Amino acid sequence: MTSSNFRQSEFPVDQLFLDRWSPRAFDNVALPESDLLTILDAAHWAPSSFNHQPWRFVYALREAPHWDEFLGLLIEFNQSWVKTAGALLFIVSRTQSGEIGSAEQKAIYSHSFDAGAAWGSLALQAQILGYQAHGMTGIHFDKAYQALQVSQDDFRIEAAVAIGKIGDLNQLPEGLRERETPSPRKPLSDVAFNGKFVSK
Ligand SMILES: Cc1cc2nc3c(=O)[nH]c(=O)nc-3n(C[C@H](O)[C@H](O)[C@H](O)COP(=O)(O)O)c2cc1C
Repeated sequence: MTSSNFRQSEFPVDQLFLDRWSPRAFDNVALPESDLLTILDAAHWAPSSFNHQPWRFVYALREAPHWDEFLGLLIEFNQSWVKTAGALLFIVSRTQSGEIGSAEQKAIYSHSFDAGAAWGSLALQAQILGYQAHGMTGIHFDKAYQALQVSQDDFRIEAAVAIGKIGDLNQLPEGLRERETPSPRKPLSDVAFNGKFVSK
């Protein structure tokens, strides 16, 4: 077992997996674009069905063009803490392969699964660089499709991600401060089954 970050695994996993978590209090400092691009570079090395690489990332750096606009696409609860982050991005997946608009277009069964794999790598690379990445689906989706000019014919907005270095807890609205701690997990035996699926 491994112990770190107030967490304990059941088997000897790398500490990295326990140290990644989703804080809400960031340090109000913009990410250097090269750090963000390093994180996205890692993300885009994820595996994907037929190597379709259906993930897309659209980002805004803190207090740079598009920052306020991107913030406004989140539900108010998320805005209340994401405003302290250093970068905000949306992960979009392409739902079909083949040239857009062509007769060869074919549904990609795993477009969300593949984009999720990219998000996993993104979060771990952020952690390795000393940042944390916090995923969100608390998004005004209709507004986001429109503002980001993402066509629902070909793409799905999967999630948003705030990235930054951990900051002062006291800047969080009351009620969120006591929740600012790494969460536990279900026992492994609740989710990993040898030979026979268990519905629970
Ligand atoms: C796809 C996805 C959507 C999430 N949506 C939100 C959200 O809208 N707001 C929020 O505060 N946290 C959100 N979270 C964070 C989760 O609550 C968090 O990852 C989970 O409680 C596990 O905690 P940990 O990441 O610290 O290990 C989201 C996480 C994921 C992966």
